[in-house]
Amino acid sequence: MTARHEAGRPSLVELTGVGKRYGNVIALRDITLQVNAGEITCVLGDNGAGKSTLIKIIAGLHRHDEGVFRVDGREVAFGSPREALEHGIATVYQDLAVVPLMPVWRNFFLGSEKRKGSGPLKRLDIGFMRGTAKEELLGMGIDLRDVDQPIGTLSGGERQCVAIARAVYFGAKILILDEPTAALGVKQAGVVLRYVVQARERGLGVVFISHNPHHAYPVGDRFLILKRGRSIGYHTKDEITLDELTAQMAGGAELDQLAHELESAGVKGAPELREEARDLGASD
Ligand SMILES: Nc1ncnc2c1ncn2[C@@H]1O[C@H](COP(=O)(O)OP(=O)(O)OP(=O)(O)O)[C@@H](O)[C@H]1O
Ligand SMILES: [Mg+2]
Repeated sequence: MTARHEAGRPSLVELTGVGKRYGNVIALRDITLQVNAGEITCVLGDNGAGKSTLIKIIAGLHRHDEGVFRVDGREVAFGSPREALEHGIATVYQDLAVVPLMPVWRNFFLGSEKRKGSGPLKRLDIGFMRGTAKEELLGMGIDLRDVDQPIGTLSGGERQCVAIARAVYFGAKILILDEPTAALGVKQAGVVLRYVVQARERGLGVVFISHNPHHAYPVGDRFLILKRGRSIGYHTKDEITLDELTAQMAGGAELDQLAHELESAGVKGAPELREEARDLGASD
């Protein structure tokens, strides 16, 4: 059932030369990227690189002020997240908007509650929501002990998984994940990455934001590396190795300079840092 991208068809999302300013700050400049059905596009970069700005444009929170943004081949400029959602674009933010004390199933349906009956007798269809949440989570391979437990009792990784399952259930075609693995340990990050891959297998186009090339590389199909608002690399997986991606990300040259500064300040460990920078290809 994988809906891999077919050559010749427009991408689900395509940015061409997109730029964004906040007053005098140029947050993004000349960004080009594609998100295709059945693919994961990773956006990597350090703090302040422009990752969140980029996804806020796609998610309808901010408008770009340069370049072209197309969804399914048609040019758009969203005025609100609601508009993006209507185009099938769902976003899972790092600080998930959940109500910790409400049960898992309730959070699953938050803002889209299912009701039954009509008029003044209309009430929440708890049975449906509870059953569906459980089924959908199981369908993604998430076996919670109990969908009645408050979502606040789940681990960070489990909460991310619930949010992904929810977006899939509500028919997202494009799923944006803002650093879903950033606050997680190795094992939980692995669990979340599995669901990211599952969303791709279901034919969604996924945008996966990360600081960590070790999380992005194994799952990604395309990699955009941002630095101070500019693209310093945009590659499909067959064009780049994990080592090269890590080197581009880390900016070997900067590590080298830092080692130099630390060394002149007599800090222990600086030579090792310099070694590392060399391994990252800084001195080529
Ligand atoms: N609402 C805003 N108003 C003014 N400047 C902003 C605004 N949002 C972001 N910026 C600036 O734009 C640049 C890019 O920020 P952005 O949040 O997109 O980075 P990021 O890659 O998501 O960083 P992080 O990894 O820290 O989340 C930064 O210099 C930031 O200070
Ligand atoms: Mg950010």
